[in-house]
Amino acid sequence: MQKGLWRINGERLARRLDELAAFGLNGAGGLDRGFGTKAELAARQYLIGLLEKEIGAAVSIDAAANIWATVGGQSGRPAIAVGSHHDTVPNGGKYDGALGVLLAVEIAQCIKESGLKLRHPFTVVSFTAEEPNVFGLSTFGSRSASGKLRGASLIEAADPDSGLSLSAALARAGGNLAELDSARVEKGAFKAFLECHIEQGARLEKAGAALATVDWITSIYREHVLVEGEPNHAGTTMMPDRHDALMAAAAFGLAFEQAVRGSGREDIVGTIGEFAISPNAVNIIPGQAELTMEIRCIEREKVGEVLADLAAAQKEIEKERGVRVNRRVVLDQPGVWLDGGVTGAMEEVLGKMGEKCLALGSMAGHDAVHMAGLTAAGMLFVRSAGGKSHCPEEHSDIKDMVKAGDVLLNTVLLLDER
Ligand code: HGY
Ligand code: MN
Ligand code: MN
Repeated sequence: MQKGLWRINGERLARRLDELAAFGLNGAGGLDRGFGTKAELAARQYLIGLLEKEIGAAVSIDAAANIWATVGGQSGRPAIAVGSHHDTVPNGGKYDGALGVLLAVEIAQCIKESGLKLRHPFTVVSFTAEEPNVFGLSTFGSRSASGKLRGASLIEAADPDSGLSLSAALARAGGNLAELDSARVEKGAFKAFLECHIEQGARLEKAGAALATVDWITSIYREHVLVEGEPNHAGTTMMPDRHDALMAAAAFGLAFEQAVRGSGREDIVGTIGEFAISPNAVNIIPGQAELTMEIRCIEREKVGEVLADLAAAQKEIEKERGVRVNRRVVLDQPGVWLDGGVTGAMEEVLGKMGEKCLALGSMAGHDAVHMAGLTAAGMLFVRSAGGKSHCPEEHSDIKDMVKAGDVLLNTVLLLDER
């Protein structure tokens, strides 16, 4: 290791990645650890145990059930925070979120073990429900911490299948919906926030690089769409007499795709990831179709242009097919440009390590997008094998992850001096 650079304990990191990956592991080798599941609660206990027992840090759980722990530093100074999320998508991978949390834990342990006396406290955070979940609320913990969610507006939120309320799920995790506003972090509480995350794409692999700093994080726009047609007999209803909700939704979906593809930009994506029809019976013309659609682009204006094209197509579909298309905005999250000072500090360390490093935009959403509203935020990406993520094949090489830990540790020390 280059002179004057500190390094993390790679074996300990590797072991903990495997230990954390045991929570929610399914038969297909994927992870089912969404917020509100028993596996997510068990993962919380595991992380709290690491922080309390192995690092001797005092852990606090805020009203959004975010897990916080701080070591060292002089009181009265803003903390340097590092973290990510411990929940996963259904059948997800073992590194999305988990890597960022366990690297934060590892850095805290290195600081404690080395006797390093930092000027700024070092804070570990693992956010609640970064991923979309049964309560329909992604980046729940970091949005609460940055004051973007109000408890009062979420009283009714519940899992439509099990009926488990957000309030009950939060309480089980140590949170408190009625007190959600108290989770808001004061501006100035932090000097910086860093999140290490797998790239979840193939750009690093194609460039033969292990790591990248992140310039920006995309905006995410999401809508719930309900198409109302007319259920009727599949045999006795002639084609001109139909108001088929599925076919209308399919036309809407193709118009949506056309509007995104026609926007003239490479860095805009549109997805319909959820789709359901009812009554969903072989001999009944679907009366209703429900879908969620999302659009991502760093330039929110472009999203507006796509929505305008889609509105025109929607009118056509409603008129031609005699259906109603009801749309409800679920999320309209602006994109952010991350902090040049934090990114510059990471690049300085990467330079000292002689590491080739790219600078990438992120089309994935991250908790950092909200922390950027509270403090100087930066992100470090780690190469994803085959660019795969949100699936059991998600993999990163431990050497790359250890390198990322070394960069983060030395960046924290550099920021602490400044
Ligand atoms: O959806 C995302 O971009 C992230 O994985 N939560
Ligand atoms: Mn994810
Ligand atoms: Mn993630």
